Amino acid sequence: MEFTDVIKNRYSCKRYSDRAVEEDKLTAILEAGRVAPTAKNLQEQHVYVLQSAEALEKFNGLTPCRYGAPTVLLVAFDSENVYTYPSSERTSGVEDASIVATHMILAAANEGVDSCWVNRLNPDEVAKAFGLPGNEVVLCAIDLGYAAEGTGPLPNHASRKELAETVTRL
Ligand SMILES: Cc1cc2nc3c(=O)[nH]c(=O)nc-3n(C[C@H](O)[C@H](O)[C@H](O)COP(=O)(O)O)c2cc1C
Repeated sequence: MEFTDVIKNRYSCKRYSDRAVEEDKLTAILEAGRVAPTAKNLQEQHVYVLQSAEALEKFNGLTPCRYGAPTVLLVAFDSENVYTYPSSERTSGVEDASIVATHMILAAANEGVDSCWVNRLNPDEVAKAFGLPGNEVVLCAIDLGYAAEGTGPLPNHASRKELAETVTRL
């Protein structure tokens, strides 16, 4: 798909059918995360794929934003393997994992797979529920699947500020 179409087609899907995400599409999505850039190329991300009935059932109880996606990715990062920028106290974990997540969401759109970034969860609760190692911090969950019949972008998908409001040429 043309990149401009990928950008245009992506939206946050908030109701899924039970059609599974094909394995080759899931692999392409995960691969897009694998090649994402990270500070100092540390690649501190860890992506968990939730697909079993047991894992999804568990996830149902961890967020109010459960829209029935048959695949959920948990994007975490190793907090002991982040880059601390010398010029500040900022570390790279959240931004690196966000880039990985964004790559995967755009790859999903490219594959015709619908998605939604879900942050309305307690990262510590999620990490505990899935037994993640203590050094891993959960950034977000990503729903993957196919929109249920009659579901499409919410009205706010088309509502974006003008460039002049968010861009300043200096
Ligand atoms: C960082 C981030 C966190 C989000 N968290 C949630 C969430 O917890 N639940 C939800 O339903 N949507 C969530 N969304 C989706 C946003 O609501 C959605 O992207 C925004 O309203 C714009 O709509 P669009 O993605 O269809 O263009 C999140 C999006 C981002 C980028």
